[in-house]
Amino acid sequence: MSTIPELDIDPFAEDVLADPQDFFTRLRETGPVVKLQQSEGHDIVGVGRDAVMRAIFENSADFLNSRGGGILDLARDEPFRTPGVLQETDPPYHDRVRKVMTDVISPRHLRVLRQEFQKQADELVDKLLDLQEFDAHTDLAEAYPLRVIPDAIMGARPYGRENLLRYSVWLFESMGPKTPRAKQVLESVENIQGALAWVTESTKRENVSPGSFGAMLWEAVDQGLLTADEAGLMTRSLVGAGVDTTIYALGMAVNLLVDNPDQYAKLHADPSLGKFAFEEGLRWGSPVRQIWRTPSRDLEIEGVPVREEQKIMLVMGAANHDPERWGPTAADFDITRDASGHLSLGRGIHACVGAPIARLEADALLSTLARRVKSIERVGPSTPYVNNSLRGWTSIPVRITAA
Ligand code: HEM
Repeated sequence: MSTIPELDIDPFAEDVLADPQDFFTRLRETGPVVKLQQSEGHDIVGVGRDAVMRAIFENSADFLNSRGGGILDLARDEPFRTPGVLQETDPPYHDRVRKVMTDVISPRHLRVLRQEFQKQADELVDKLLDLQEFDAHTDLAEAYPLRVIPDAIMGARPYGRENLLRYSVWLFESMGPKTPRAKQVLESVENIQGALAWVTESTKRENVSPGSFGAMLWEAVDQGLLTADEAGLMTRSLVGAGVDTTIYALGMAVNLLVDNPDQYAKLHADPSLGKFAFEEGLRWGSPVRQIWRTPSRDLEIEGVPVREEQKIMLVMGAANHDPERWGPTAADFDITRDASGHLSLGRGIHACVGAPIARLEADALLSTLARRVKSIERVGPSTPYVNNSLRGWTSIPVRITAA
């Protein structure tokens, strides 16, 4: 048995969060599993190779979710909130609630949403064509999910939706270490307690609209499939996992299209490539930086020992550029590549259950943009999103030309 290789990089240092590519490469090259430095003293190991990560995602017996979806180990640490009933549980409990969620996010229900998503995409692109010059983060990547997702998940309570963004910042920062930077961000989020209360209130039975995913989860209580606590927490999962992930995924794809005009030209020539552009954007720049697992016991990963108390950080952005899996062009953004099989949406029993919703949004928005916009060019540098769990851009200044 060999010893665990070490890498003198703190993945939560501000400069690494702002530009992680060098960390990704060194993580992959250092070993199948690597001990990482962590300024707040967390004992963490990282995985950056595609094949190793894939095997961990597919082995829910040895690699647990129930010990926490973030850096904390719930066997030892106090959770920062009531743990999620879907992402922070293991089989057999997980299988039961997952089945309810999969039935709710059904192809039949997605067909109903498609029309509304397309209408909202048309209206948003009309507005962008009027503006011509805008911020593709705020006015496009953020604006679109905020128009469609709260309605799909909860329906009612049209007021107070700015709380969704505050809630997401709190959630995704809290899943990582409390570095001085993260603490400062958490302290500066305006009225965070109000945002948390708003989310709890919005997921209650009396506040979700008929036809929304939330309402369907509450109906499962009447059918004896969920408890009332589970229905509320599962609606909360959709709110937490479904908003900022999609915002930064859309922004990532648009930013890549701006930086690669040849790829935008291909998309404009064939707008049906919208869904492939989104998938390749997900592969190229995984908007979720990492997913956490905890070993169920002391074990070995490819002959390297990992102790039960070490949290395993699955760094999908690194695996998605692994030349062993993606070949010598792994670092290129190519919308005609077959990007299926990337790990940005996870894999195995916890793979993203909301992926069809994100894909529906992206397909409607990117194909509409492609049809109606001839070219899209940068008018200023993009600003990276520095956050413990999510990656993308908080500003993408662009100008568009109508088709
Ligand atoms: C492009 C946008 C998205 C990305 C990159 C993303 C990423 C992920 C990843 C990596 C996982 C795996 C977690 C694990 O293995 O522990 C996951 C799970 C999950 N996602 Fe997403 N997600 C996205 C959009 C959504 C949307 C739109 C929703 C719902 C509205 C959603 C709801 C969930 C839920 C509930 C889980 C937990 C599933 C389980 O543990 O069984 N996600 N997501």
